[in-house]
Amino acid sequence: MSTPKYIFTETQYAQELERLRAIEKIFDPTSCQRLKSTGLTSNWRCLEVGAGAGSITQWMAGRVGEKGQVIAVDLDTRFVATLASSNVEVLEGNIQHLPLEHHSFDLVHTRYVLVHNPDAHAVLPRLLDLVKPGGWIVLEEPDFAAARTIAGEDSACQSVNKVNQAILQMFTARGMDYSLGVKLPALLQTYDLQPFSVEVDTHLSHGASDIATMMKMSTVQLAEKYIATGAATQADIDNYGRFAENQKAWAIYYATVGVIAQKKLEPGLK
Ligand SMILES: C[S@@+](CC[C@H](N)C(=O)[O-])C[C@H]1O[C@@H](n2cnc3c(N)ncnc32)[C@H](O)[C@@H]1O
Repeated sequence: MSTPKYIFTETQYAQELERLRAIEKIFDPTSCQRLKSTGLTSNWRCLEVGAGAGSITQWMAGRVGEKGQVIAVDLDTRFVATLASSNVEVLEGNIQHLPLEHHSFDLVHTRYVLVHNPDAHAVLPRLLDLVKPGGWIVLEEPDFAAARTIAGEDSACQSVNKVNQAILQMFTARGMDYSLGVKLPALLQTYDLQPFSVEVDTHLSHGASDIATMMKMSTVQLAEKYIATGAATQADIDNYGRFAENQKAWAIYYATVGVIAQKKLEPGLK
């Protein structure tokens, strides 16, 4: 069976860039705090997997300085190609297949990347192999099972719940785990890594907030795929959009699970 394409592959350049910038605006402050908690500093070598629009790559490059290095990988580097510089290398391809064996990193980071991979459970050991002994991995992945409406008109809430059901069905049909985030701490333990920190960010958001607006963008871009599941109609998509604009409509759109872990030092090393 061939691997399904990344779900946002066919979306328009400007629309997708706007969506990725919205994600960065909302989540970068928390991501940067998590990354800083590893001790990220000058001279480090970092791997940013699924670099998207590149804000974290740029931020890491500033932290590691001229003697450090950031490798930014994405299936499609259309938004990050211009970031290549003396301490940033941009590589296009699937992290599963890029020849990175000769590298070893102080820090490997993903945000909303593994969840898009049907073989996420196989990608994780690949990422761990790329972390040097004593190095860090920071994973930030969603749990869409946390999604629910809290307040709003009944009919609008019903449509939002139908769209959430469509999201579940689309992920399942593609072999992707839409609750991957909550499984990561246990998964890391199977590779003998004890998480240093586990956090679940569950934003309770009103319509017209940054999260609601970003989720509306995703829903518009993926409308055809959601409708194809049979769980939601175009009318539900339209109602979802109105719900996400209504300041009095509240929902949890999804939760983000942030896991930080350090790879053990090889015996005898300090
Ligand atoms: C939802 S976007 C998140 C972008 C960025 N990490 C952020 O949070 O701002 C997911 C990105 O991961 C990339 N991606 C997904 N699976 C990948 C893989 N196996 N190898 C490399 N990139 C991947 C996609 O192309 C996309 O740019």
